[in-house]
Amino acid sequence: KISREFIDGLPKSELHVHLEGTLEPELKLKLAQKNNINIGQETIEDVEATYHYDDLASFLAVYYPGMDVLQTTDDFYELAMSYLNKAKSQGVRHVEMFFDPQAHVVRGVPLNCVMEGFYQACVDARAMNIDAHLIMCFLRDMSARSAIDLLNAAKPYRSKILGIGLDSDEHHNPPLKFMLPFSMAVEQGYHITMHADVDQVDSIDHIKQALEIINVERLDHGTNIVEDKDMVDWVNHLHLGLTSCPLSNKLITDNDLKGDEILDLLDEGVKISINSDDPAYFGGYIADNYEALVKEYKVTPEQVVQLAKNSFETAWLSEKQKEMYL
Ligand code: HPA
Ligand code: ZN
Repeated sequence: KISREFIDGLPKSELHVHLEGTLEPELKLKLAQKNNINIGQETIEDVEATYHYDDLASFLAVYYPGMDVLQTTDDFYELAMSYLNKAKSQGVRHVEMFFDPQAHVVRGVPLNCVMEGFYQACVDARAMNIDAHLIMCFLRDMSARSAIDLLNAAKPYRSKILGIGLDSDEHHNPPLKFMLPFSMAVEQGYHITMHADVDQVDSIDHIKQALEIINVERLDHGTNIVEDKDMVDWVNHLHLGLTSCPLSNKLITDNDLKGDEILDLLDEGVKISINSDDPAYFGGYIADNYEALVKEYKVTPEQVVQLAKNSFETAWLSEKQKEMYL
């Protein structure tokens, strides 16, 4: 029997969490009041009642409007710090956090507010014994030109950003659309990763593009490679990390944590890890995701430890830093 204490106490690295997806109803309401923004709800229960979706598109339709309450540097700082406190209580020691600047810049919030607030939280995380970093995402339902503009605008913050990701609506927005901004990002020394959501049309084809042409270093979600033995071999050959998010799978995919896929891939040697994705929206932080998996599937303590090890092995850490954790 694997206890919650064991899961919480296990040192973990979180590689797939969207900072904007950590906006709890309580903080959303508080910032709405502070910034005088009418979000259409007045109580925590009312906000919670809007947190319902059955696929990626219906989730994104709640997720983006919710960001309106984030206006100042302090708001971004507070959002990130409240996530980091939660993460700390669930055993996170290293974290690489996604954020979506385009979603803020289009609302008139300067990139500087987003960067300063989130980065200050990374600095202050050190005092909490968490090694925190940022992954800037391009929104794939926006143009490649817009992604390039963001990459250029982010040049003054180059040293504050560890890598580049790709998220938002995948339908009709394949990896190849972002060939140029990703190759520019690699030239600038960024690490790269991409979402390959499991329920998307053409997902396997998108994964092939991401692995064979864009040369990503990790895949976010992507557990449907399990359907394709050659692709599993290829992922293993590349030592590529897969960042899986069970509660996200359950809430926005098939009402299924995808535990069979996760455990099959783990058995095949894939460097797959457990993460929380949008924890405020999907019902749990990282340890809650481990716990959900352990409750619904037959998982051994060795498998749980391997999942946590994988999260450090596939983190963007030097070999020396990895040794500290492993
Ligand atoms: N998929 C795509 N875009 C997202 C997600 C996700 O899981 N979370 C936040 N933006
Ligand atoms: Zn995600």
